[in-house]
Amino acid sequence: MNNNPIGLFDSGVGGTSIWKEIHHLLPNESTIYLADSINAPYGYKTVDEIISLSIKNTELLLKMGSKLIVVACNTATTNAIEILREKFNVPFIGIEPAIKPAALKSASKSIGILATKGTLNSILFSESLDEYKEHIKVTEIIGEGLVSLIEMGKIDDSEINILLNKYLQPMLKKDIDYLVLGCSHYPYLIPQLKKILPKQVKIIDSGIAVAKQTKNVLIQNNLFANTDLQTTLCFYTNTNTSTLEFLLNESLNKISINIKAF
Ligand code: DGL
Repeated sequence: MNNNPIGLFDSGVGGTSIWKEIHHLLPNESTIYLADSINAPYGYKTVDEIISLSIKNTELLLKMGSKLIVVACNTATTNAIEILREKFNVPFIGIEPAIKPAALKSASKSIGILATKGTLNSILFSESLDEYKEHIKVTEIIGEGLVSLIEMGKIDDSEINILLNKYLQPMLKKDIDYLVLGCSHYPYLIPQLKKILPKQVKIIDSGIAVAKQTKNVLIQNNLFANTDLQTTLCFYTNTNTSTLEFLLNESLNKISINIKAF
């Protein structure tokens, strides 16, 4: 048993989509979330920059007593998780585009992946893709500009809709029946995506799988919190709190959102 918090970090507010799934599945666990929004987007940074930002976030989460770290960012996971696992003696859970379920379920044998440049260019992602490339057509598109707009809270904005229409067209031309969301910011765009996509195209993100994996790792390492204790749910941002407040609106009565330099 361990009552310390689960630590999560993302390049910004997007990883809250993962936090929601984790909190839903593990309501007795305390959490600390770091939104490194001052450095968003990570997707256009070099591998070395992504690694050093991931180390900085991990060090702070460990200083705050985290018992396990969830890298709630595909770009940080695909570029840095191996180094984090080597460097720090704590369990890490990462998030990667869910290629496997999409590839296995696709009837048209054509799937689309919307992700950041950093994720699509990573070695980890290309290795995962190699397993399926022979059997399935994969259309990868960089969601340029989407993370920055979501960081500003512009989720149902016409700018987002114009970009999504542009990014989905090449996928639809290739008759995809699964769209994989390879960035933890993108689940917030699901309502807009559904308006553009034909009904037969299903959207897959990795949030629930990450929550289940977090639960498994807590079990394996005997790290569950005592259910009688009050949980604390803290969010830290290094810019301003407005987009976090907007995205976490339904949880505002039980969480705290703070500004901190990191
Ligand atoms: N949420 C991050 C991800 O999952 C966004 C990356 C970025 O900041 O570009 O990749």
